[in-house]
Amino acid sequence: MVSPPKSPPQKSHGRLAVTPSRQPRVLMEDTPQVAGAWRAQVLTLFPEMFPGPLGGSLLGKALDQGLWALNPIDIRRFAEGKHRTVDDTPAGGGPGMVMKPDVVGRALDFCADTRPRSADWPVIYLSPRGKPFDQAMALRLSQADGITMLCGRFEGVDQRVLDARRVQEVSLGDFVMTGGEIAAMALIDATVRLIPRVLGNQASAEEESFSAGLLEAPHYTRPAVWEGREIPEVLLSGHHAKIAEWRHAQAEALTKERRPDLWRAHVAKAASEDPTGEAELSDAHTSAQRRPEKD
Ligand SMILES: C[S@@+](CC[C@H](N)C(=O)[O-])C[C@H]1O[C@@H](n2cnc3c(N)ncnc32)[C@H](O)[C@@H]1O
Repeated sequence: MVSPPKSPPQKSHGRLAVTPSRQPRVLMEDTPQVAGAWRAQVLTLFPEMFPGPLGGSLLGKALDQGLWALNPIDIRRFAEGKHRTVDDTPAGGGPGMVMKPDVVGRALDFCADTRPRSADWPVIYLSPRGKPFDQAMALRLSQADGITMLCGRFEGVDQRVLDARRVQEVSLGDFVMTGGEIAAMALIDATVRLIPRVLGNQASAEEESFSAGLLEAPHYTRPAVWEGREIPEVLLSGHHAKIAEWRHAQAEALTKERRPDLWRAHVAKAASEDPTGEAELSDAHTSAQRRPEKD
């Protein structure tokens, strides 16, 4: 059983009775503002950092509309003693401090108790040694009922609580930040924009980089000539099939040039889908030459 938190969350006032808001105080409530909305529970030592950039623009609007919900939860609420200590020195010595398993365990259990029992609800610890976050993972997470994210600080979290609560480790990239909060925000941003109705134009999520395993083709807008540089003629032709073909060739060329890892996966996928080899990839090299030069 989970011990009640030291400062119990405010109770729900009934479905839809609480107006969705971007204000951190209201977002601290541990109940979804709209029944069934995708929900992010964020365990952090710095709840005041949220919603931060997630409260602006399209995601902030969707938050206001209750299309998703955000519950930052202060890990310190689950600490005991006068000083509410959340960390201790590393076993075996070494620099820094480690987040205590008892405190993190109670925080994770509280999250487990406040989400629907049978929910599809991944529990993630943001960590540089985790599985690299990518678009496929964002799509998968957007299709879940919600997620719980644990933001680390100091040297990280005691391994036993990660093992005991079967927490998945997810990394934002091969670099080390001071805490998991920015990583959690990036993960939430990339995920929430894939929830239907969050983006004004859902097609943009379907056509952008990584959605088809390729980087996106370059964009242009008016004026037609800027500092002597022209928009590629095909884009002004009004010929939709040719434009689509050009964009696909550009996407392949860019991917081949900048991301050999993605390119290899794309070629392998094309080969597996077309074992006869009749369908050919665009001539990515030629396409790259066609792309307007950059400085
Ligand atoms: C200073 S880091 C700890 C780094 C850890 N000692 C290591 O070497 O792997 C503190 C916290 O920041 C977060 N963090 C740092 N870099 C991250 C990354 N690339 N992806 C996700 N989270 C990260 C994690 O939550 C981590 O527990």
